[in-house]
Amino acid sequence: MSTLVIIAHPDISNSTVNKKWRDALSEDESLVTVHELYPEYPHGKIDIEKEQKLIEAHEHIIFQYPLYWYSSPPLMKQYLDEVFTRGWAYGSNGHALQGKNIGLAISIGSVAEAYTQEGNVKFTIDELVSPMIATTRFVSANYIGVHKLYSAFTITPSQLEENTQDYLNFIKTLNTK
Ligand SMILES: Cc1cc2nc3c(=O)[nH]c(=O)nc-3n(C[C@H](O)[C@H](O)[C@H](O)COP(=O)(O)O)c2cc1C
Repeated sequence: MSTLVIIAHPDISNSTVNKKWRDALSEDESLVTVHELYPEYPHGKIDIEKEQKLIEAHEHIIFQYPLYWYSSPPLMKQYLDEVFTRGWAYGSNGHALQGKNIGLAISIGSVAEAYTQEGNVKFTIDELVSPMIATTRFVSANYIGVHKLYSAFTITPSQLEENTQDYLNFIKTLNTK
């Protein structure tokens, strides 16, 4: 298994999108390793060594989370702060992520039109995830893009199913690389 999906959703039992994505990914254990940060670390004490070993064991890494205030839930940021250490992720001898593929999967409450120059938000999702892209570059990994779902509040079951299949295809393409 060479794809690791790291999920950061603070309340996945009440989730529609991230739960559906997680369950679809988990159906085929040969496809990915699914790793959920909030259930793993309910008190926020991340096991850094364990997380680094998990990353080392996989070639492709996907960070999956709902968009919160145009950013990520806090444990996602804390994970980067604590797991991407100097001497492991960067700095001398810090090459653990070099050449790995890193992508994102993000659910978004508002409609797609809001995330345009003319829309309410005035920034695209690709612009809003620029800190993640810059982080990927900093650790010499390849940024492979973001799978998105807009209108999370009003999505119909069939639209969610279609989007989930697109997500699975995105992951399957990685496994052939
Ligand atoms: C604290 C919080 C902040 C949010 N901020 C945003 C936001 O900035 N933009 C947006 O479009 N949706 C925002 N939302 C909506 C979530 O993105 C949406 O509920 C989530 O993607 C749905 O996924 P789920 O069904 O897996 O929970 C926010 C929701 C919460 C709870």
